[in-house]
Amino acid sequence: MSLESGSNSTNCWVVDVSAEDETRRLGRAIGQAGGPGLVVALVGNLGAGKTRFVQAAAEGLGVEDVPVNSPTFVLIHEYEGRLPVYHFDTYRLRDIDEFLELGADEYMAGDGVCFIEWADRMEEVLPRDRLTVTFEITGEQSRRIEITAAGPRSQRVLERLRTDGVLEGQS
Ligand SMILES: Nc1ncnc2c1ncn2[C@@H]1O[C@H](COP(=O)(O)OP(=O)(O)OP(=O)(O)O)[C@@H](O)[C@H]1O
Ligand SMILES: [Mg+2]
Repeated sequence: MSLESGSNSTNCWVVDVSAEDETRRLGRAIGQAGGPGLVVALVGNLGAGKTRFVQAAAEGLGVEDVPVNSPTFVLIHEYEGRLPVYHFDTYRLRDIDEFLELGADEYMAGDGVCFIEWADRMEEVLPRDRLTVTFEITGEQSRRIEITAAGPRSQRVLERLRTDGVLEGQS
């Protein structure tokens, strides 16, 4: 795992990972750092690694037995960890109204942690203070992952990753 130098600031980190394990390590660390009310917006193409990342984050939040192949037709997966975990896959939703009909506002305003795949489609109704994780496929096993914080709650998570040294030392 290596940090792209130059493009990093307090609110934005760009990390190059070279294997799924590293994506999972990052996801787990974000789960461990996440607090009540955190919203994590996941952006990236089919097969970029969004679901793998969320599964690892759920583990980091203390969810046991996260299903590896959860059915894709389920629109919200709910797990119980040290906090409630809500995982939305909005790929099959027609529009923002359908997202809201699922109760998205209430989930996002609650004390759990929300993960939203294809979040760019729902951007208008996401809270401003959210952690955005963008995946770019750079090779068969490699991904460029950009993590952006946009308010105090999401910044705390990045801060915690920094103090825990999650993003350092490996390449
Ligand atoms: N560095 C990596 N990080 C994450 N996944 C990787 C990596 N390298 C290879 N993969 C593979 O890429 C696939 C990622 O699948 P995943 O379901 O997480 O993608 P997704 O972004 O959720 O796609 P979708 O939009 O279809 O939901 C898996 O098959 C995984 O094994
Ligand atoms: Mg997915």
